[in-house]
Amino acid sequence: MPNSNSSGQALSDKFAGLMEKANAYAQRVLALPNDSFEKTLAVAFALCLVGAVLVSGSAVILKPLQVSNKAADEKTNILEVVGMLDEKTNVEEAFKKFEAKIVDLETGEYATGFDPATFDQRKAAKDPALGVEIPSDKDLAKIGRKSKYAKVYLVKEDGKVKAVILPVNGYGLWSTMYGFMALEGDGQTVIGLNLFDQAETPGLGGEVVNPKWKAIWKGKKVYKEASEAGQEFSKKHHTEVGEPVLTLVKGSVDPSKPGAQHQVDGLAGATLTSNGVNNLVKYWLGSEGFAPYLAKLRSQRG
Ligand SMILES: Cc1cc2nc3c(=O)[nH]c(=O)nc-3n(C[C@H](O)[C@H](O)[C@H](O)COP(=O)(O)O)c2cc1C
Repeated sequence: MPNSNSSGQALSDKFAGLMEKANAYAQRVLALPNDSFEKTLAVAFALCLVGAVLVSGSAVILKPLQVSNKAADEKTNILEVVGMLDEKTNVEEAFKKFEAKIVDLETGEYATGFDPATFDQRKAAKDPALGVEIPSDKDLAKIGRKSKYAKVYLVKEDGKVKAVILPVNGYGLWSTMYGFMALEGDGQTVIGLNLFDQAETPGLGGEVVNPKWKAIWKGKKVYKEASEAGQEFSKKHHTEVGEPVLTLVKGSVDPSKPGAQHQVDGLAGATLTSNGVNNLVKYWLGSEGFAPYLAKLRSQRG
């Protein structure tokens, strides 16, 4: 029976034989005239082979760098949405305040059995076991599928939730926009919206990344308060279900008008992207998204 040493020797002999044949073939082809069909084909093939090896080799070598850059990017975007990022911020240090949790969207409870450090919500949405198709009548954000579990981040102070950062996505005019919405621990007051990953037209829909526009979200209220809702609205509605009323309006919000706390200026010349933002807010803060979780967060606050 051949042992591993002799099979290793056989393999290396075979490889040496192949190399010898390849070398002999290369010598023969190189000796052919430059305008020969065989030489043209062989040189083109050799170039393709070298290119393919270089491209796939670089992809494999750079993969760990890509993964760590993506993680660093995510941290930067999260710090930005809660207003904790400036040029002096040490991202790794600042991010120590954040705690990642996995939420079961249907129950609003924290899910066990996942490692928040490695859980990838975008991948989970595509996974048949972890993701679900969204029925078209419920697919306000036009995303087709969603993960049943979402990765949220919490910032706590003296044991109390000070901020919660929710992943959101929704279709604009040209692209699915991905980002984070940060709310205060009341699950109601907006700290910020950062749609960092999108391909809307720069200067039009792409203005979702304009710091001036992003700044006007701060302090807006997602749900109606019991006090402003009148008789048809119960406190239960706000604390247990909560349909979001936060909306983008055409033009500028008049702060003196009732309801201004639930309104954000639409993007000039980009009504379709604005509609997309509107829909993603309504979807992700509604009962199909984070409303059950936010209701639990509020009730735990007392
Ligand atoms: C080249 C080009 C790019 C556009 N990009 C966007 C865009 O990113 N978002 C958007 O809502 N509208 C975009 N529009 C405009 C839309 O086609 C549409 O006119 C607009 O949403 C209407 O908005 P308004 O009512 O605010 O003018 C673009 C138009 C053109 C010609």
